[in-house]
Amino acid sequence: MSAPVPQAVVAPLTRSAIFLVVTLDRAPAHLDRVRELFGDVAGLVRAVGFRNPEGALSCVVGVGSEVWDRLFAGPRPAGLHPFREVRGQHHAPSTPGDLLFHIRASAMDACFELATQLMQRLGDAVAAADEVHGFRYYDSRDLLGFVDGTENPVAQEALDATLIGDEDAAFAGGSYVIVQKYLHDVERWNRVPVEQQEGFIGRSKLSDIEMDDATKPSYAHSALTTIEEDGEELKIVRDNMPFGDAAKREHGTYFCGYARSPARIEQMLVNMFVGRPPGNYDRLLDFSTAVTGTLFFVPSATMLEEPPP
Ligand code: HEM
Repeated sequence: MSAPVPQAVVAPLTRSAIFLVVTLDRAPAHLDRVRELFGDVAGLVRAVGFRNPEGALSCVVGVGSEVWDRLFAGPRPAGLHPFREVRGQHHAPSTPGDLLFHIRASAMDACFELATQLMQRLGDAVAAADEVHGFRYYDSRDLLGFVDGTENPVAQEALDATLIGDEDAAFAGGSYVIVQKYLHDVERWNRVPVEQQEGFIGRSKLSDIEMDDATKPSYAHSALTTIEEDGEELKIVRDNMPFGDAAKREHGTYFCGYARSPARIEQMLVNMFVGRPPGNYDRLLDFSTAVTGTLFFVPSATMLEEPPP
């Protein structure tokens, strides 16, 4: 048997994305509709994307813990559970979501077309929990003005960080994704002197160069999200996107992190929200409020298309 083909978890970062989180009605006919759609997602991506080969259209489908057993027979992915809220200096809430469609493309038209086609197919089987349209901001900066994504692993390192291997062989080629919507208080952030902001992130704002270990505060975001196991750094792949509604003044960062185990993302969240050691928390959170939080399993493309009996 050949190795399962992963979904486009490790896709190039694009200029546009839609994060579509929906809840699923449990009626048997609706569950059938979703299973059928899973088999057709790759074809829909081809149909929408083929007309613009430079468009780099991709779609990752994630399945939440509470619907997994209704949609798939057999065992469960070892790390699949509802998103665990974190309470510490700040709060990371756990919010509903049965399916995630993470749609990426170089332009929003393709993202929107695919999202529309997916929703048309799903019809009344689902209700929207959240939909965020993300855009790549100047120099890949977040709305706080810092370049976001620099330390993402690439190539083989990205595959090793995100794709399940022998540790859960029935789900090899799968992945986990955690998404969280953060709202920023940009006005207040901009009143903080840049030097202090740089200490909160652990990198220079203009040049994006990392502070050396002697200078970087232990509460810097990039320090608290650097974690190790047996002397080895545990990486994740992020595809955060700025989003915003200017009139409502509601804007922020949509965090999207993929990993071969949710534990490493959860550890980072505890370091950020509770602190390492407790109390030494991520000051970014004094200016950023998490308003959603959901964990999904990302089956391999092979499993999505043809689930095991
Ligand atoms: C690094 C922004 C949330 C994990 C960074 C960097 C920025 C940033 C500017 C430095 C550049 C880079 O390497 O990408 C943000 C913003 C967030 C957010 C604005 C939301 C308000 C999160 C969350 C996690 C996370 C929730 C994980 C649970 C990481 C990791 C790094 C990083 C692993 C790389 C650390 C390193 O190796 O130096 N983030 N981030 N971030 N962030 Fe975040």
